[in-house]
Amino acid sequence: MSDIVLETRDLRKAFGGLVVFDRLNFTLARGERHAIIGPNGAGKSTFVSLVTGLLQPTAGEIVFNGKVVNGQTPQERVKAGLVRTFQINTLFASLNPLESVALALLEREGRAKPSLAKVARESALLDEAEALLAKFGLAGELLTPTNMLAYGMQRLLEVVMAFAMRPQVLLLDEPAAGLSTHQGHELFAQLATLTAGTTVLFIEHDMNLVFRYAERVSVFAAGGMVMQDIPEKVRGDARVREVYLGA
Ligand SMILES: Nc1ncnc2c1ncn2[C@@H]1O[C@H](COP(=O)(O)OP(=O)(O)O)[C@@H](O)[C@H]1O
Ligand SMILES: [Mg+2]
Repeated sequence: MSDIVLETRDLRKAFGGLVVFDRLNFTLARGERHAIIGPNGAGKSTFVSLVTGLLQPTAGEIVFNGKVVNGQTPQERVKAGLVRTFQINTLFASLNPLESVALALLEREGRAKPSLAKVARESALLDEAEALLAKFGLAGELLTPTNMLAYGMQRLLEVVMAFAMRPQVLLLDEPAAGLSTHQGHELFAQLATLTAGTTVLFIEHDMNLVFRYAERVSVFAAGGMVMQDIPEKVRGDARVREVYLGA
């Protein structure tokens, strides 16, 4: 693997006596779409939280662009380009998509205390937000209060807001959760075309989506990572079947 954007070195995470994983050596190649799969409780979300800095590892290193980032805050990592999807919270729920994305753009530029008043004064910012929303098929919903949007559109908006931060690595924890199969496919189809060039790491349960959209797959199971390989290899692997049969 020539160009590694993100890797972990002997990463360990324990919650008290529960060792979620130990000596986890994970690599993410620059530019790839990479899926993490594995049964519930395997540590997938924990892994993303360690990478983004919401949780601290028990041992080991997280290396982003060749630099150990263990000591960096989540905000510092976002600035450096490690971005996970926003969860639309009560603040954003009362805004509309245009305002929400414009705020994300302001945040990206690291300007002090992004505020709606500032957003309203900056037409270039609003133009950029509008263009981004249009790209993702949300042109018709620019001014709809977010809490009035259909659920699938809210999930899509979360992705757009993360993408507005110009991530080097975009981390998505089950972006299609709660969507219909059809909506899930639409979301991933959009992701695949619109985020071309961005490294995307996503957690996903739907194997059809995984095998269709991931270029590499990491399989997590209780205690660690079982394998990391191209979809064709993962699909046929006996250890992976074992994990999914609940052995
Ligand atoms: N904050 C926490 N405190 C204690 N245990 C946790 C915490 N977060 C996750 N866990 C446990 O760690 C394991 C991995 O959880 P998680 O990363 O959410 O799994 P996944 O996303 O693969 O379903 C589970 O056994 C879960 O109960
Ligand atoms: Mg999870």
